[in-house]
Amino acid sequence: MAFQRRIFSGIQPTGNLHLGNYLGAVRNWVALQNEFECIFCMVDMHAITASLLDPDDLRRSTRELAAAMIASGIDPRKNILFNQSQNPDHATLAWIFNCIARMGWMNRMTQFKEKAGKDRENVSLGLFAYPALMAADILVYKATHVPVGEDQKQHLELARDIAQKFNFDYQKEFFPLTEPLIYGPATRVMSLRDGAKKMSKSDPSDQSRINLTDTADMIADKIKRAKTDPNPLPDTVEGLEGRPEAENLMGIYAALGGMTIEQAVADCAGKGFAEFKKLLTEVAVTVLGPITAEMRRLTDDTTYVDGILRDGGERARALSAPIIAEVYDTVGFLRP
Ligand code: TYM
Repeated sequence: MAFQRRIFSGIQPTGNLHLGNYLGAVRNWVALQNEFECIFCMVDMHAITASLLDPDDLRRSTRELAAAMIASGIDPRKNILFNQSQNPDHATLAWIFNCIARMGWMNRMTQFKEKAGKDRENVSLGLFAYPALMAADILVYKATHVPVGEDQKQHLELARDIAQKFNFDYQKEFFPLTEPLIYGPATRVMSLRDGAKKMSKSDPSDQSRINLTDTADMIADKIKRAKTDPNPLPDTVEGLEGRPEAENLMGIYAALGGMTIEQAVADCAGKGFAEFKKLLTEVAVTVLGPITAEMRRLTDDTTYVDGILRDGGERARALSAPIIAEVYDTVGFLRP
């Protein structure tokens, strides 16, 4: 059966959008919106799995993230932009998926292992079930393609396993086997302080990431202090091997400048880090500055942002309603 091509992706409203989220995900979403039907979701239900958040902070982060996405170029009239908790069909399908997914599959999730660490007995059940909710986010709309950064690959493989098992158990080709879309020179942006660690909202050091709320001075300062090695930049892509910090900064430079990694390397061959960092700061401030300014303007306009999210929520519910009705019939639940 051919499924209609539909894009879904999500992002957690915990803290702010950082350069990794922007280059690994949001920028690709902006490009996809011209070609496909897209649904973009602020996953506030996922945001409370690691720990409960202050309710005002969560509301503020959700609005701020929506503002950041619009400021980055997501058109909320063309796409559906909403916060997850506005559509209860996600949670309904997630429950069914909790009964489809096997404990063994969930136990293999590396993000769960990383997030739980040594404290496995004390983390929430929600954190363990997180990837099943993520599968439900996607499949409640029968989305076929999911643009994400590299770190979500395993979760998307699980979504395929869940879809496949549902289809097999109920003997119908009901859910699509979703394809990940992971592309561009910055699918895995690393910390500015440690080239072996992913740039992340949860890193305690703010120096490790560039946030979309940072001023030009803050960006310049963070890039200036970013970890490097003592050698000049290489003249081939292979020359970046074994130099994680150089590789990371070059990937960021390429992505921000709209270049391939080969073009970026050719552009900077033989330069020392001091000179390269000036170029990198320039391109970062040029690309991010206008987004930050627009984001600030929109964040103050809560009536506008709330209106967008409500409208998006309504359109999302309209899309998932017939799918969830069919799921009810398939599973044997009496419809409301
Ligand atoms: P989240 O909020 O951690 O990240 C949002 C998006 O940003 C990407 N990303 C990165 N890309 C490159 N380098 C980095 N350092 C980096 N850090 C984050 C992520 O890959 C992601 O695409 N579980 C998801 C949210 C989610 C979701 C979904 C995604 C919930 N339901 C359904 C897709 C489909 C998450 O925590 O993303």
